[in-house]
Amino acid sequence: MSTTILLTGGAGYIGSHTLIALHEAGYQPVILDNFSNSHPAVLERLERITGQPVRVERGDVLETPWVEAVLRRHQPVGVVHFAGDKAVGESVANPLKYFHNNIGGAVSLLRAMAAVHADGTAPAAPTLVFSSSATVYGDPASVPITEDFPRSHTNPYGHSKLVIEDMLTALRTASPVWRVGVLRYFNPVGAHPSGLIGEDPADIPNNLMPYVTQVAVGQRPYLNVYGNDYPTPDGTGVRDYIHVQDLAAGHVAALQALLGGSESFTVNLGTGHGHSVLEVVKAFEAASGRPVPYAFAPRRAGDVAQCYADAALAKRLLGWEARHTLHEMCADAWRWQSGNPNGYRG
Ligand code: NAD
Ligand code: UFG
Repeated sequence: MSTTILLTGGAGYIGSHTLIALHEAGYQPVILDNFSNSHPAVLERLERITGQPVRVERGDVLETPWVEAVLRRHQPVGVVHFAGDKAVGESVANPLKYFHNNIGGAVSLLRAMAAVHADGTAPAAPTLVFSSSATVYGDPASVPITEDFPRSHTNPYGHSKLVIEDMLTALRTASPVWRVGVLRYFNPVGAHPSGLIGEDPADIPNNLMPYVTQVAVGQRPYLNVYGNDYPTPDGTGVRDYIHVQDLAAGHVAALQALLGGSESFTVNLGTGHGHSVLEVVKAFEAASGRPVPYAFAPRRAGDVAQCYADAALAKRLLGWEARHTLHEMCADAWRWQSGNPNGYRG
């Protein structure tokens, strides 16, 4: 039986960490990526960590016949679909880019998977793990958030995740042979403990942790804390930060469950604990030994006060739970940033 797993978007932040976790669990990962938001230098780093050549298919998930050829060539028993665009602000400015690449990319991949299943060349039932997001909960009525909370969207990025989730439901209804694990990530941060791979935003970071690390390394003068008048203990926004290593382990658990014959599922991948922006700043200062100057700024449009998971379902269904502390998330993010101030661009 093949142990190959195809990772679309596998050269990106979460995909690269998941590749290592899959390798360590005995799977043979193959990356499919067009490097639109990643750097080929990650491949050499992955080879150093795993001690193995990394198998890569360079191309676009939108190219259905090529994706089909990749599936026939590698015969994966499962696919993890990370590929897509993820910048909320850009999605508001350029919605068609998000509907095209995210929804179009998912349709293309699913059609290619269906084709190789239909003609009997696939080694197993079509098995997919999909990168969804806590963004599908919109502005939650309460916290912690369970998977049965109502879904909504506040921007085209979130809308694209919601549509893909619905597409996967329709596909399973039409064709119950599909095995699908939808993983709703909360706020992935941190880096591999080697310090060799990590998050490498191409532009000014939108997200808190990469911005904090760039302030600490001296690339930016201070952090803007967006809002200090939220109904939270210190007035700043509260999120469920999860170490990317825990997230990577969640993908291994999801694939093991699906390949072991489990029913399809949708689960939150979070720690179940919320931390405020100021708590993250303090934890980062403690882990790095560097000051992180900040100034309060107005609330950022579209932000919610609090967002954290109820993580019980993932534990019950997958036997998975997050293990790393906020201190470890900060220490590992700092090791990556301080060792690679310009990311993969060296
Ligand atoms: P990333 O941008 O680092 O990785 C995505 C990868 O997909 C990149 O390597 C990019 O080059 C590739 N890609 C994009 N479009 C492609 C296409 N058409 N064909 C082939 N490759 C393509 O992002 P990430 O943080 O690793 O996120 C991975 C997935 O997880 C995304 O779907 C994202 O929406 C989702 N997600 C991320 C977060 C987060 O905060 N990082 C939170 C929730 C969900
Ligand atoms: N924040 C700041 N200053 C910054 C950046 C962020 O104060 O420079 C604050 C935000 O206001 C928020 C918190 O830090 O309170 C976290 O913000 P992020 O941008 O890091 O993360 P979000 O929770 O806004 O969004 C992230 C991903 C989305 C995903 C969502 C799921 O960026 O793609 O988590 O919960 F949908």
